[in-house]
Amino acid sequence: MRGIVLAGGLGSRLLPLTKVTNKHLLPVYKDPMIYYPINTLINAGIKDIMIVTGGNNAGEFLRLLGNGKQFGLKHISYTYQEGEGGIAEALSLAEEFADGDKIVVILGDNIIENNIIKQKEAFKTQKEGAKIIIKKVPHPEHFGVPELIKDKVVSIEEKPKKPKSEYAVIGIYMYDYRVFDVVRTLVPSERSELEITDVNNYYIKNGLMTYDTLDGWWIDAGSSHDNLAHATQLVIKTGANKIT
Ligand code: G1P
Repeated sequence: MRGIVLAGGLGSRLLPLTKVTNKHLLPVYKDPMIYYPINTLINAGIKDIMIVTGGNNAGEFLRLLGNGKQFGLKHISYTYQEGEGGIAEALSLAEEFADGDKIVVILGDNIIENNIIKQKEAFKTQKEGAKIIIKKVPHPEHFGVPELIKDKVVSIEEKPKKPKSEYAVIGIYMYDYRVFDVVRTLVPSERSELEITDVNNYYIKNGLMTYDTLDGWWIDAGSSHDNLAHATQLVIKTGANKIT
């Protein structure tokens, strides 16, 4: 299985911190934000990793990460997203890298307390389709929200005014080879982006989606100044990326 870290975007929700740098390079306690999602993949046994980045500071990722020696990697792949086309568009740039293999996609600002080993192993044995990971949150309306009926996810709504559950779809997604064909069918949303939620709804409609819940805390550190500060506090208090 291969891993893709999505670290593009303009980071406009974190201005002025992102005026001269990419949000995924900002500090979360002792490490740059992007270290955490890379560690999440590595802890799940994924060593074949691509970083998708963009904007004016893309070159800094190479300076920071190089070939990933500090993570025990021999090599990291990189690609560049022009403009602000959304998460699903960023993902489409990794098609050649994926080369037909199953992939784990992680948003570069998503930090978790523990690990996704259980979920990744379950997806390995899943014959086809996709898997999402969900987490109960106090304000689901800020995220993609799943509607759950019995043990099935029947739809996901992106930032709904009236959430149909108390859960958020976290920014860690697992897909089979067909994900890139799905992205090609998408049309831009109201915020002019290709939405990952639309990709996930395709899999749901075709009966190809499973879900798991996440143990331990989860935070999308790059979505607001408060979350960035909160992420630092959580990391100081309990540490992140623990193998339990
Ligand atoms: C994105 C997804 C959303 C998901 C969230 C997790 O939101 O669109 O479905 O719940 O990441 O971090 P965005 O950060 O682009 O607003």
